[in-house]
Order: sequence, then C-alpha cells, then structure tokens
Amino acid sequence: MQNSSPSDNTMVLVDNLTVTFGENQVVNDVSFNVKQGEIIGMFGISGAGKTTIIRVLTCQIEKKNWSGNVVVTGLNPSKKRNHSKILGNIGYVPQLELLNLYFELDPLKNVDVFTSTYGMNKKKARETAEKLFKILDIPEDTWKKRVSRMSGGEKKRLSMAIGLIHNPKVLFLDEPTTGVDASKRYDILSYLKKLNQHLNTTMFIITHDLEAALICDKTAILRQGKLLEFDTPQKLISSLPSGGLVARISIENLDQKVIKTVQKFDSVKNVLRVGNETIEVLMENFENNLPKLMKYLFENDVKINSMSRDTANFRRLFQIRIQEEEKKENEMDISEINSKGGIIS
Ligand SMILES: Nc1ncnc2c1ncn2[C@@H]1O[C@H](COP(=O)(O)OP(=O)(O)O)[C@@H](O)[C@H]1O
Ligand SMILES: [Mg+2]
Repeated sequence: MQNSSPSDNTMVLVDNLTVTFGENQVVNDVSFNVKQGEIIGMFGISGAGKTTIIRVLTCQIEKKNWSGNVVVTGLNPSKKRNHSKILGNIGYVPQLELLNLYFELDPLKNVDVFTSTYGMNKKKARETAEKLFKILDIPEDTWKKRVSRMSGGEKKRLSMAIGLIHNPKVLFLDEPTTGVDASKRYDILSYLKKLNQHLNTTMFIITHDLEAALICDKTAILRQGKLLEFDTPQKLISSLPSGGLVARISIENLDQKVIKTVQKFDSVKNVLRVGNETIEVLMENFENNLPKLMKYLFENDVKINSMSRDTANFRRLFQIRIQEEEKKENEMDISEINSKGGIIS
C-alpha cells in the first residue's frame, strides 16, 4: 500500500483532527500541514489543546479518542504498528528536563543511556552528541561532570541535545522557555533556530511565550480546541486593519470611559490597553484617519501625552484574535438568550 504522505516535503499533516475525552471535545476539527525544516509555534492559553495535539502526533493518545487524518513523517499514528517507526523519526523535549535527564550522571553518560534505549551505535551517538553540545555551547568541562552541577540554561540545552541525538526529522518541544529567566529566554529560542538551521530539523514549539513567534516560520493560535490561525506571523499581522499599523497613544487619566470614547470613532477597529496610560489603536485607512482621530480626541477632552506609530507585533495579534473570539462568543450567548425569550430585551 502507498503511504498517504503527499509527494511534496510535508512532514506533518493534520486533517480534521478532533479529540474527545468522555463528553469533552478538547480538540475541534483542526487542520494544518507542516513542511520539512519549518519551525511551528503553537500558542494559546492553558487548556487550549496544544499538548493534546502534540500527544496525538507523538502516538500518546489512543485511537478511540481521536478522529481525522494524521500523517507524521509519512506514517499514520492511528495504526499501532507504525508507532515504533514514528517514535524513531521524532524527538521529544519535555517541559521539565528532569523527565529526560539523569541528574546524577554526566552529559556523555546521559547520551549513552539514551542511545542504548534506541539501540544506536554508541560511538556514533557520542560523536553526534559532541557536535550538538558544541552548537549549543555546552562547555566541554561540564561533559564529564554530573548534570546536577550544571546551570539551569545548560541543563535545558542538554535536554534539547538529548532529544536530537537520533537525528529525528521532527522535534517536539513542550514549553522550552517556561521556568527560564526572562533574560535567558531569548538564548533558548536562538539556540533552537541555530539547531534548525544546522540540521534542518522540523520543530514544533508549544509555548505561551509570545516572543517565540520571532523564530517561527508559522504560528498556530488555538483557543478552546479550535485552531483560529495557522500562517506566517507576518501574514497574520498584515491581515489586521491597515496591514497592522497601530497608533500608540499615551493618555492622561486613562480609564474605561476614555477607551469607550476612542472606540466610538468610526474607523477605529480595535483598542487595546497596553499599559497604565497607554493604548494601541488599529483603524481602517490608517494614514487618512489618524489626524482625524487626534482631532476627535482633542475635541472630546482626551488629554494626549504622546503618540507614536508602529506595526503590531505578534503579541498584539494574539490578543486581538482572542478578544474577537470572546466577543463573538458573548454575542452568541446573548442572541441565544434572546431567541429563548430570555432576560435581555
Ligand atoms: N487525558 C485527558 N483526559 C481528559 N481530559 C484531558 C486529558 N488531557 C487533556 N485534557 C483536557 O483537554 C484540555 C486541553 O488540554 P491541553 O491539551 O493540555 O491544553 P494546553 O496544552 O493547550 O494547555 C484541557 O481542558 C484538559 O483538561
Ligand atoms: Mg500544555
């Protein structure tokens, strides 16, 4: 029988994936596909279904709980006989590094343990390990010391190296920056990018660190089991009104009343409070309407301290999309109450 993998360089294909636990549908008709070498960021607040999707792709969820067409490295995880092949083709870096590292052993011994469970050639695996350790700047003087003596950042990088020892086609990382100092988070992300560039490994990064979008080729936004978006972050941002141009306005005594005033201006599409005294405003026909907005605010006694223009970043896009969904849901609730002859008239 032919593999169901398309002829192009698709690494992961997900078509109409739905996952149900008992009464709860936790993933709802999700479809996307991923090409070789792409870095995919999976974003969404806790409970959105990110880990569940990854668990389907990594053969951790029984077929009775899910439906849809899923292909990982050319193989379908719904068939048990494909599991060992899929697991050989993928790597997994868990959220907590103690789940894939032995802290009382040194890094090279950790590699040995991992290679023996995969039935790999020990010498070759050590060579690969040394190459990975070098890419990841794991200092040579730590290679033969206990992992427990390594710094937090070094442990995290070692955990990534272990996930890559068998040269997987796809690497899954669950929250690689959670628990890492804010100042070190970007380091982790740039190491992932570096690995991706050196090895051409396809990567899935689950994260609520919205800065991670910077290294992603595609970003998935999930909410309550639904995939709201799946595209390059640039494309998603430029689909906002006026291509994502924002006016960042600092306002004296900013409160809900002032925000309502801004929202009332005709061409304003979205107002986000991004600081104590700061809002970001998206509008249609930005260039034309910005001076008109300023005039309108002035006439309505809104005291502007400063104004600058910028392009929305991924964080804003994420906030806006989640906000829009919440609004839609509220409107649906209200119309449901109305149609049932309920309390809102
Ligand atoms: N094995 C399971 N049995 C029942 N419910 C589950 C199971 N795994 C996950 N869930 C539920 O599915 C939803 C999505 O969870 P998860 O995929 O872990 O979200 P995320 O990773 O986006 O935070 C949550 O409401 C969670 O409680
Ligand atoms: Mg999760």
